[in-house]
Amino acid sequence: MALSVVGMTATAPTSPTAPEVCDFTVLGGTGDLALRKLLPALYLRDREDQLPADTRIIGVSRTPLDDAGYRAEVRDAVVRHVDEARLDEAALDRMLARVHHVTLDMEQPEDWDRLHAVLKDRPHHEDAVRVFYLAVAPSLFGPICQRLDQIGAVNQDARVVMEKPIGHDLASARAVNDAVGAVFAEEQIFRIDHYLGKESVQNLLVTRFANTFLEPLWNSRWVDHVQITVAESLGVGDRGGYYDHAGALRDMVQNHLLQLLCLVAMEPPTYVGRETVRDEKLKVLQALKPMLPGDVDRDTVRGRYGAGLVDGEPAASYADDLGHSASSTETFVALRAEVQNWRWAGVPFYLRTGKRMDRRASEIVVVFKEPPHAMFPHSEGSTSANRLHIQVQPDEGMRLHLTAKEPGPGGIRLRPVSLDLSYATTFDQPSPDAYERLLMDVIKGNPTLFMRRDEVEAAWTWTEPILRRWAATPERPKRYPAGTTGPIAAAMLLERDGRTWQEPDQ
Ligand code: BG6
Repeated sequence: MALSVVGMTATAPTSPTAPEVCDFTVLGGTGDLALRKLLPALYLRDREDQLPADTRIIGVSRTPLDDAGYRAEVRDAVVRHVDEARLDEAALDRMLARVHHVTLDMEQPEDWDRLHAVLKDRPHHEDAVRVFYLAVAPSLFGPICQRLDQIGAVNQDARVVMEKPIGHDLASARAVNDAVGAVFAEEQIFRIDHYLGKESVQNLLVTRFANTFLEPLWNSRWVDHVQITVAESLGVGDRGGYYDHAGALRDMVQNHLLQLLCLVAMEPPTYVGRETVRDEKLKVLQALKPMLPGDVDRDTVRGRYGAGLVDGEPAASYADDLGHSASSTETFVALRAEVQNWRWAGVPFYLRTGKRMDRRASEIVVVFKEPPHAMFPHSEGSTSANRLHIQVQPDEGMRLHLTAKEPGPGGIRLRPVSLDLSYATTFDQPSPDAYERLLMDVIKGNPTLFMRRDEVEAAWTWTEPILRRWAATPERPKRYPAGTTGPIAAAMLLERDGRTWQEPDQ
């Protein structure tokens, strides 16, 4: 007799489609983010015919540039930042024809009026989806929104896009959210965390929820602990001014690492929809065990890189990169977190991130429990805990570590082996850059992969006590030589619990 399973199907709303008319305005149009990431991503999507046919791209900056001058800058940027194989003169010319520039000084009302005149200078301008991408310093987010409102540029279909940092603590994040929220409704606000646009990060949801074999094991009964590492080999470069006020906890943990943790720990939503995933992520953030001062002392490690060797090349210390040694900013954080709910009670989540580490590698490792009973007592070798490595970058993929019998006669020899899925060899197309996906979602009005206000504020609520405790203790970040895996204290954080960090090639 055939078994039939009658599932309850929740009706998922149909996915949003691209509008027909769009004005994509980039405030900060000559800045690093615009030229390195946004404009190349728009070119690449346009090359695939995905931008609405009637799209204009309007760069706004203080630089005195006409359309032709800005187009020349955009052309250079695209050529510099897009793979040669994906450069195509005809597509580039078509994209450049969409590009305009408005020179604008924040303080000059007539400049804002000029921007508004450009926005209105098209047939059916009232039907255009207006995207305002704030690729500018966060202190300008509120004032810019206010100006856009004053000139009447915010129509019902307008969207505003913000990059992190959204505030430097809970109060300042609320202030930014209030200022932007006074002009745009929450569903018009797109807060980018570019980690959510990475293919391997989206695949984490698919792996968990489009397969059956993991879900029964994905809990405290079978999972020993989870590790999330985002390691960078670069230093702070010329971003020292920003970074020294932020530090690794604000720059990476409060957003990217906590978002990864949410995707690992969240419950399955009924369907992947604009609010359902965000609702589940929020519950994870709210379930994080609050960090009391004693917890911060015991469960967090901060470090700062000294001089060393990265890839065999001498690398300067953080103080040298910064140009002074008066800072107590951390460039490395390791910490132990817990998600206090039924599924994860007692399972540590170890997070680690740093600059100038031995390599650029981001990985989530789910370490399962040891088999409950040793069945092969007379074998050579031993069983080891299964581990699932989700490789976020640079080589996206997944590796499942198992124990197998080494082939051959005689006794049983146990050998660790792995099942590997490499994106590069499995799918014969390169993964798009995170911004390509996210910018299209903005145009289509799909906020699923963006941070909602309550998520950002919940992440700050959890992070802030760590910052406060660090500020109140005289201890400075522990030094680690550039090109290593961080300070020894980070290794001890796990050793104390009888565990070790899984390095990416293990
Ligand atoms: C940014 C941080 O959000 O993410 C940077 O501000 C960091 O300091 C970067 O280098 C890392 O992003 P990716 O995609 O290169 O891992």
